[in-house]
Amino acid sequence: MYKVRKGTLFLPNLSPMLPVNTTFASFMVIVRSSEALQTLIKKLRRDGKTIGFVPTMGALHPGHLSLVKNAQKQNDIVVVSIFVNPTQFNDPKDFKLYPRTTEQDIYLLEKAGCNTLFLPPTDDIYPVGTAQLPHYELGYLETILEGKYRPGHFQGVCQVVDRLMTLVTPDRLYLGQKDYQQCMVLKKLLSLTGSSAQIEICPTLREADGLAMSSRNVRLDSRERSLATGIFRALTFISSELQPGSLAAIKEGALQLLSESHFRPDYIEIADAGTLQLQAAWDGKKKIVALIAAFMGEVRLIDNMILPLNFANYAN
Ligand code: PAJ
Repeated sequence: MYKVRKGTLFLPNLSPMLPVNTTFASFMVIVRSSEALQTLIKKLRRDGKTIGFVPTMGALHPGHLSLVKNAQKQNDIVVVSIFVNPTQFNDPKDFKLYPRTTEQDIYLLEKAGCNTLFLPPTDDIYPVGTAQLPHYELGYLETILEGKYRPGHFQGVCQVVDRLMTLVTPDRLYLGQKDYQQCMVLKKLLSLTGSSAQIEICPTLREADGLAMSSRNVRLDSRERSLATGIFRALTFISSELQPGSLAAIKEGALQLLSESHFRPDYIEIADAGTLQLQAAWDGKKKIVALIAAFMGEVRLIDNMILPLNFANYAN
C-alpha cells in the first residue's frame, strides 16, 4: 500500500515527467492486493463511511474523472479501480493494444479527489483462473448490439464487476452513459446478485468537436481523429431528422454520413431507451436511444444519444 501525502510524492514508479513539487489537496491510498483492500474497506465501514465506486480500465480521461467527481459529491470515500480485464476482450489484439498509462492515471486521480485506488493483479481478480468463471443470465440484453458483435464481452464485464463489487462493497456504483448497454447489463448484474448498491449514470463527456472521450481515441492517427467526429454527426443527424413514423430513412442517412467519414459500421440502431428493444418506427412520444458502433481504421468506437433531446439524460 502506498500513500500520496499532502504536498509530497511517495510513489516509487512515478514518472520523472510529472511535476515533483505538486501540492495535493488530500491523500490517496494505492492498494495492490484484494486482502489489503478488504482490510481498508472494513475499517472505513467501522468508521461509518459511505463508499462510491468507479471501476475503470485506466488510460483515464476527463470522462472517467467526471465519474470520480460525481462520486466525491455523494460519498465520504471514492474508490477507483484500474484493471484491464482480459475476459471482456473478444479481440486479443484489442487487449494487447489497449492503452496503459498507470503513472499518469495515478496523478490524475489524486488531483480529482480519489481516496483509494485499487490496482489489483490478475490473480486477485481471478484467484482460480479464468477457465471456469460464472455465467450470468443476461437474456435479451446479450443478444443485441454489443452483445451480438462482441460475443462473450458482457459475460467478461459481469465477471470482473461482480468480483470488484464483492471486494469494494460500495453504496453507489458510478457508470458512464457512453457505454449505454453496459449500464443496463450492470443494472441486471446487481439484481441477479442481490446487490443493494445504487447505480449512478453520468453523462458522456465529449471533445470540442463532439467525439465522445474514450481511452481508445489515442490509437487514432491525426487523419482518423479528424474523421472520427463522423459518429457524433451521424447521431446529431438522427436527432435533427427524427419524426414520428418509420426510422428506416433516418438510419440510412446516418449510415451514409458514417461511410462518408470512412467509418466501417457494425451497427446503427434505434432502441427503446428503457428496454433496448430495437425500433423500426417511432410514435413521437417514446424515449428512445440511437446507438452506433463503427471502426475507424483498426479502432472500434461506440457512442449513443438519448432522444428526443429534451430527455436530457439516462436518469430521466
Ligand atoms: P472504461 O472503458 O475504462 O470505462 C470506465 C467507466 O468510464 C465506464 O463506466 C464508462 O462508461 C465511463 N466512461 C468512459 N468514457 C466516458 C465518457 N466520455 N464520459 C463519461 N463516462 C465515460 O467500461 C469499462 O472501463 C469496463 O467495461 C469496466 C466497467 C471497468 C469493467 O472492466
